[in-house]
Amino acid sequence: MTTVGFIGSGNIGGTVARLAVNAGHRVVLSNSRGPDPLADLVAELGPRSSASTSVEAAVAGDIVIVSVPLQAFPDLPAAHLAGKTVIDTCNYSPERDGHITELDDNTLTSSQLLARHLPGAAVVKAFNNIFWKHLLSLARRPGAADHTYLPIAADSTAAIAATTEFIESVGYSVVAAGSLADSWRQATGTPVWGTPYGPYSNTMGISADEEVIRAALGSATR
Ligand SMILES: NC(=O)c1ccc[n+]([C@@H]2O[C@H](COP(=O)([O-])OP(=O)(O)OC[C@H]3O[C@@H](n4cnc5c(N)ncnc54)[C@H](OP(=O)(O)O)[C@@H]3O)[C@@H](O)[C@H]2O)c1
Repeated sequence: MTTVGFIGSGNIGGTVARLAVNAGHRVVLSNSRGPDPLADLVAELGPRSSASTSVEAAVAGDIVIVSVPLQAFPDLPAAHLAGKTVIDTCNYSPERDGHITELDDNTLTSSQLLARHLPGAAVVKAFNNIFWKHLLSLARRPGAADHTYLPIAADSTAAIAATTEFIESVGYSVVAAGSLADSWRQATGTPVWGTPYGPYSNTMGISADEEVIRAALGSATR
C-alpha cells in the first residue's frame, strides 16, 4: 500500500484519489481552503482517505499528486516536496492561468516550470491528457483486453518507475514519452491530449492502446 498525497482534490485529483482508494492505497487530500470542504469526499472514499493541509499531504505522501491551476505553483509547499516523486497533472491554460512568457515562447514546458518551483522534487507529467470522467470509466483490471495507456514524461528513472507502478495499480498502462523537456508532446491541444479517449460527450470514453498513444505522441508538432 502506498500513501498518496494530493495537493488539489478537484475533478482530476479527486478522480485519481478514487482510483487509488479502489486499488487499496491510502490517500491524504488537500485543497486551497483547508480540510472542511473535503469532508464529503472523504466520507465517500472511506477509511483509507483523510483531509489535511497541503503541507501535511506533502509530508504524508510516498508519492504526491499536484493537480491545481498553474497560478497555485508558487503556493506549493516546496520544502516538504523535496526528495519526493511528484506527479503533475496540470495543464497550461492562458485563459485561466494568465499568460506565462516561458510557456508561450516554448522556453519551458509547464512541468519544467513546476520543477523550477519544486527544487529537489522528481516531477513526472501524467494524467494531464485525459478528461476526468474518462479517467474514472476507463480504469481496468490488469490483463484486461481493453487496457488504456497514458503517456508519462520525467527526468528521473526512479520517479518513472514509482509512477509506472502506481498507474498500473490503478488500472492503466503507460507509454514513456521522454523527459520533462519532451512533455510538450502531451500538453494541451496536442494529438494525445483528450482525443484518443473519445469526445467529452461520451462520458464512458474509448480505450486507447499503446500503439494509438505512441502514434499520437509521434505526430505532435509545435
Ligand atoms: N478536469 C480535467 O478533466 C483535467 C484533466 C487533466 C488535467 N487537468 C488539469 O489538472 C489540474 C486540476 O484540474 P481540475 O479540473 O481537477 O481542477 P478543479 O476541479 O478546479 O480542482 C482544482 C483543485 O486545486 C485546488 N487548489 C487551487 N489552488 C490551490 C492552492 N494554492 N493550494 C492547494 N490547492 C489548490 C482546489 O482547491 P479549492 O477548491 O479549495 O480552491 C481544487 O481542489 C489543472 O491544471 C487542469 O488543467 C484537468
